[in-house]
Amino acid sequence: MGQSIAAKEFIKKEFAQKELTKKDFTKAEIKEMLLSEGSAQQELFTQARLTRENVFGNSLKVRGVIEISNACVKHCDYCAMSSHNPKLERFTLDAETILQTARHIRSTGIPIVFLQSGQTPRCDDLLYKVIPAIRKELDCEILLCVGEKPKSVYEAYRTAGADSYILKFEASNPALYESVTHSALKKRMECTAHIRETGMKLGTGSIIGLPGQTLDDIVDDILCAISMKPDFVSAAPFIANKGTPFEQMPVGDINRTLNAIAIWRIALPSALIPTVSALEYIHPEGQAAGLSAGANVIAVNFTPKANRDKYAIYANDRFIVGLDHAQKTAKKAGMRLLLCASEN
Ligand code: 5AD
Repeated sequence: MGQSIAAKEFIKKEFAQKELTKKDFTKAEIKEMLLSEGSAQQELFTQARLTRENVFGNSLKVRGVIEISNACVKHCDYCAMSSHNPKLERFTLDAETILQTARHIRSTGIPIVFLQSGQTPRCDDLLYKVIPAIRKELDCEILLCVGEKPKSVYEAYRTAGADSYILKFEASNPALYESVTHSALKKRMECTAHIRETGMKLGTGSIIGLPGQTLDDIVDDILCAISMKPDFVSAAPFIANKGTPFEQMPVGDINRTLNAIAIWRIALPSALIPTVSALEYIHPEGQAAGLSAGANVIAVNFTPKANRDKYAIYANDRFIVGLDHAQKTAKKAGMRLLLCASEN
């Protein structure tokens, strides 16, 4: 396998000049890095880790995720929480359960409460209530990932006290996005702009290996995220989810996912990049591999046990990350979890 010219050139140029950013990769360079294997891939990962260490040292950020509802108005072909899946029993947590779970997250030293749900208006009033309640009681950051909303709703989340919001574009090719989600990419991108206008930090990202996705699509996804200059960016391998139109499709390629993480790390040095649980689902030690490729965030799952299995986001037997797993994964990658005691 040939050496990755792009990665080598990058190391030469950037480290000679002690620059930390490179945002002007060409499509050909991205493609070469995306396909890198063997020693070229190791070089890419080394470069990504050096970039991460320069910005973050060896610390691994931790988010405590609470999945507050599996109701969803969308019907994406890759997701079992689709409104077209009649078999899934739906749940929405109540405000007190969310608040108690947030207290539990904070008691472990995790400083970020991450509220995630399917896209449903039924969560809006709940969030207007729980965000200020969490804010009032706990010294933490609040991160949301609850879908496409009218601009006024994003503004209300911000006013309620949310700090950041993840809305991944999933696939930057409009035809692909529209064929797998049955909705318009333009609307999703407008939502992204609205999130930014509220002043919340923005997360984006894509799924690697979606059925119908070409290599050029992935290259464009990588470039698209770089051009958005997000605060967070995530690459997740596609998982064929039971009970969806895509249940027989092949899983996304782990190496392309790891290479995408590494490219984003190099191009967006201070972005938070998660090592997602889907990596661990498709490969033992997949999340440690994500850290070796330059990721620097892990989400620990705090969803009440009775509801967890119903949050069938990529599989009903998905990998549930516990704090002990996060600790072990950090250790394997020579990192340490960033936990801090509450000031309250
Ligand atoms: N495979 C991989 N990632 C998925 N997601 C949802 N379903 C799948 C799947 N089948 C990801 C999407 C979404 C995030 C919360 O989970 O990228 O933004």
